[in-house]
Amino acid sequence: MSLIKKIQNETTKNFIFFFYRNVLIVIFLIKYLNPFGKKSTIKDVHIELSNICNLKCKWCASSINEMRKGQFFKKELMKKFLDNITLDKRFDKLRTIRLWGIGESLLNPEFLEVLTMIKNYKNKAHKKHSNFPEIMLTTNATLLNQNLSKKIVQIGALDEIRFSLDGGTKEKFEKIRVGAKWSKVYKNVKNFIKINRGKIRVKIDCVMETEIGKKDYFSKEWEELFKLVDYHAIRYPSEFDGNANIKITTRKEKSQKSWICFALMHSLFILANGNVSVCCLDWSGRGVVGDFNNEDLYTIYTSKKRKNMINNILLKKKHKVPLCRNCRFV
Ligand SMILES: C[S@@+](CC[C@H](N)C(=O)[O-])C[C@H]1O[C@@H](n2cnc3c(N)ncnc32)[C@H](O)[C@@H]1O
Ligand code: SF4
Repeated sequence: MSLIKKIQNETTKNFIFFFYRNVLIVIFLIKYLNPFGKKSTIKDVHIELSNICNLKCKWCASSINEMRKGQFFKKELMKKFLDNITLDKRFDKLRTIRLWGIGESLLNPEFLEVLTMIKNYKNKAHKKHSNFPEIMLTTNATLLNQNLSKKIVQIGALDEIRFSLDGGTKEKFEKIRVGAKWSKVYKNVKNFIKINRGKIRVKIDCVMETEIGKKDYFSKEWEELFKLVDYHAIRYPSEFDGNANIKITTRKEKSQKSWICFALMHSLFILANGNVSVCCLDWSGRGVVGDFNNEDLYTIYTSKKRKNMINNILLKKKHKVPLCRNCRFV
């Protein structure tokens, strides 16, 4: 083949590649960036009820969270949020509300009031035969005494509760979850399961230090709890958004890079102070795109800042996005 023909073929190939890539990008921009004010693509919202914690877990960004002032999410903001998502039909793709961030939600003094408020909105939605998102909570279970467990079950706002029981043995648990006593957490979780009687779905999340495989890594108590709950998941530690100085010397969570990120497209993270970020791994607030104290959710969703972030990721310019620059997912 002559050199000219080769160059012509290459040019045609490149043209086709760039043409289709740009067509795909335009489709994505129209579908996800909502330039015509259509429905939001948000499926998942994290609400950080507290960015304060009573533990100092080995790999958690909470332990190094000096960039954010410690505070609790206010019930007035929860009301505004619930009004936003129930009155504004553009949010009807929302499927899950996760009541945690980087901190311990049960420390929030308004925790039970917040649950009661959510339950009232849920009841109203069901009366109108409207969908209401699933409500989930993840907790370290250190404060989950008998009385609190009874109230949580009685209020009935939660669809799922997740207990973070890392390590797999008492010794490893206490080494990872610095400040927690296994005997107390184990008792709290067992009591909750008894009081709950299957009403709220229960999950155990277990972050492991060593790779599970050949050996039996879980003590009898873990095995027993796994049988008592609805399901459990085993993961390995990760470095949050890649910007935290978390040293993981053991096995790390593996992740596949994608050309676009689910969090960026489909989720929002409302921080304890009311700032709204695009990602639940945003421990430092680098990805804040709006302030829910002063703006409504849809305005934040369609904000220029959020659109610019998505644009840059789609156009493979993640170095321009401080939050995503070191992320393992894009
Ligand atoms: C940040 S905590 C917040 C909720 C609550 N304080 C708790 O511990 O369940 C949410 C989950 O993240 C997990 N986690 C913390 N640091 C992690 C890391 N570096 N890699 C993977 N998971 C982590 C915890 O074990 C917990 O299950
Ligand atoms: S993992 Fe949960 S309990 Fe542990 S330090 Fe982080 S926020 Fe606190």
